[in-house]
Formats: sequence, C-alpha cells, structure tokens
Amino acid sequence: MVKDFRGSRGDRGGFRRSRGGPRGRGGPRGGPRGGAKVIVEPHRFPGVYIIRGKEDMIGTRSLAPGETVYQEKKVQVPEGDIKIEYRVWNPYRSKIAATILGGVEQLGIRPGCKVLYLGAASGTTVSHVADIVGLEGSVYAVEFSERSGRDLVNMAKKRINVVPIVDDARHPIRYRMLVPMVDVLFADVAQRDQARILALNAQHYLKNGGRFLISIKANCIDSTVEPSVVFEREIETLKELGFVPEEMITLEPYEVDHAAVSGVYRPS
Ligand SMILES: C[S@@+](CC[C@H](N)C(=O)[O-])C[C@H]1O[C@@H](n2cnc3c(N)ncnc32)[C@H](O)[C@@H]1O
Repeated sequence: MVKDFRGSRGDRGGFRRSRGGPRGRGGPRGGPRGGAKVIVEPHRFPGVYIIRGKEDMIGTRSLAPGETVYQEKKVQVPEGDIKIEYRVWNPYRSKIAATILGGVEQLGIRPGCKVLYLGAASGTTVSHVADIVGLEGSVYAVEFSERSGRDLVNMAKKRINVVPIVDDARHPIRYRMLVPMVDVLFADVAQRDQARILALNAQHYLKNGGRFLISIKANCIDSTVEPSVVFEREIETLKELGFVPEEMITLEPYEVDHAAVSGVYRPS
C-alpha cells in the first residue's frame, strides 16, 4: 500500500512560510537578511541542511562556493578557520525540495550515490542534487531542450560531478556511453508518457533494488479528471512497469496539482 502524505505530514525540515504568506517565484528569494544570525543543522537526509534564521529553510553545502545557479541565497558559516557556504534550496523552484519539505520518508539521494536525472531543465535542482551526492557521487542529467541544455552545460562546468546530456530521455540507448548503473532515478519531464520514460531508463540504468522518484503534474497526463485520480492511475502504471511505489506526497503549497511518488525498482 502506498502511503499518501498529501503534502502535510510531520517533519517539514524547516522552511516555514513567511508571515506575509507563501513566497512564490516572484516574491523575495528565501534567505536571511544581511547580518542575521543563522545556524545550520544537518537534516535527517545526509547532504541536506536546515538553515535556521528568522525563517527556517533547507539548503545544500555548495560544491562551487561563490557561485549561484538561480540567484539563490547563500549563507556562510564559519567552521574552524574556514567558512562553509550553503545554498538555500527553494521549494517553489524545485520539486525535490518540495518533496523533502512534504515529509517524504526515503529520498535515496545521498552522498556518494549515482543519480540519473530526467528533465534537468537548466540545472536548478540538478545543482542541489550535485551538492548532496558530492565529489564521490555523480549526477547524469538529461534534458532535450537545446536552450535549457546550454544553461545545464554551463552549470556543469562548475560542478564536475554533473554529466550533462542534451538528448531525449525516450531514447536512453543513445546515452549508454555516458551513464553507468545508478542508485537513484529521478524523473521530472512533465510528459503524458512519463511513467514509460521512467521505465525505459530504469531497464537500462537503475540497479535492481535502486530507488526512483517521479514528479507527476496531473494536467500534463489527463486534465479531464481529478488530480487524485491521475495520481492513482500513475501509481498503478508504475506497478505494472516493475516499480514498487512506497510513498506519495502532494506538493502543495509549493506546486498545485502535483505529486511525487517514490519507491523501489525490482526489489529482490
Ligand atoms: C518541469 S521541467 C523540469 C524542471 C527541473 N527538474 C528543475 O527542477 O529545475 C521539465 C523538463 O523536462 C524536459 N523534457 C521533457 N521531455 C523530455 C524528454 N523526453 N527528454 C528530456 N527532457 C525532457 C523539458 O524540456 C523541461 O525542461
């Protein structure tokens, strides 16, 4: 049975909304105001941090200090003689961040692991995943838009653990020379046949027992029925394709009519 947390469960790992209401894309970017004291604590997911200040946020430790990817806020915290830089991870800009704040129990993405990421766009979320997996891990990021792909490639120049792949995730065989077997497969392609795309990539690259996470935008799949019906159907499709879905999180308030489903592939 798939647990349904409907985006309202328990440990939200920080990132309270500001008193003036939720901060959307157009609002002020998250982050402590200049000089405000912040404390950074590890989140229960290794590689993710809770940045406590006037508002609590989540973030990742930057692999490329001094650089921003999407004008996200940076926070520097002294550690001995050096300063460690963390980047605030905005859940309005990232479904993985929204999934973490929604209280997902298992993420799978952790330091040292290999992640195949489908639907990388310009690399906003990929950059945080790269921070999490660190230099011992890798992110293979697939994006078919040439324009977004250019930004993705530029981001990857600063994060050498990212392999940008500007190609169509419907044809995973084309990138067989670039991608090894991976521990985690994530898909955010917003396509009607996204479960099939996930399965095609899993067949080639996801270890048996590896984890998957898929973001589902209901109206990309079927706008004629309630989102909850679309989510249930997608879960059934995933089961038919060899996945064992374990959790479903709806992504409100960060994304409307979106859910994330996570679980295991061909467990032994
Ligand atoms: C919702 S956006 C992804 C946002 C991104 N994951 C992030 O957090 O920044 C979906 C992306 O998937 C890409 N996409 C859609 N179909 C694809 C396919 N078949 N192969 C590769 N990329 C695809 C689109 O070009 C778009 O950039």
